[in-house]
Amino acid sequence: MRLTMLGGPGSGKGTQGERLAQHLGVPHIASGDLLRAQVRARTEVGRRVSDYLDAGQLVPDEVVFDLVLPAVLAAAEESGGYVLDGFPRSVAQAIKVEKLTVDAGAQLERVVFLVVPEAELVQRLLDRAAASGRSDDTLEVITDRLRVFKTETTPLVDYYRACGILRTVAGNGPADQVTEEILAAL
Ligand code: AP5
Repeated sequence: MRLTMLGGPGSGKGTQGERLAQHLGVPHIASGDLLRAQVRARTEVGRRVSDYLDAGQLVPDEVVFDLVLPAVLAAAEESGGYVLDGFPRSVAQAIKVEKLTVDAGAQLERVVFLVVPEAELVQRLLDRAAASGRSDDTLEVITDRLRVFKTETTPLVDYYRACGILRTVAGNGPADQVTEEILAAL
């Protein structure tokens, strides 16, 4: 199966994405993880994107596509599917992804939208801050990430609903329960 996880910052895209990938036997490809790895490795791409990550702003599309798309196409070909997490993240990215994957038969089949109340998202990220070491897990940047999610990413919900591939799941129960609900929805 070829699917992506959609949801606000802290909604469980990574947690559930990893579980689903394991369950389905396909790679889990998280755009945020790939970008942070570039920053840690101090590559040219890492230097280019670090200010965006620190500010909770979307990284320019061409950088994300260069990094993520080859992994998506390879996973579809070699493993027969993938679980994406955090990508695509805007309607413009979704349209571009569709164009670039359809010829390879690698286009998205399902989108899992995790819904979690905003107060819980903030609390989860603040709770995680000390352990994660992420520069964007501060109250100020979390607020900006939520704003970017609302303006840039939530329009994707209507976009994918219209495509008929959206599955909406409550993401605020215990993680095991959320996994079960996602599997049932798929
Ligand atoms: P990204 O890494 O995608 O971050 P995010 O969307 O802000 O989401 P998080 O990774 O913080 O949370 P999550 O939803 O994965 O939840 P998690 O499972 O970790 O993106 C970071 C940045 O990269 C962006 O701001 C942007 O700059 C850039 N970027 C990434 N993709 C891009 C793209 N496509 N285009 C442009 N720029 C891009 O869980 C969070 C916490 O909650 C954890 O502590 C977890 O243990 C806990 N938790 C999870 N599930 C539960 C549960 N059911 N109950 C209680 N706690 C739970």
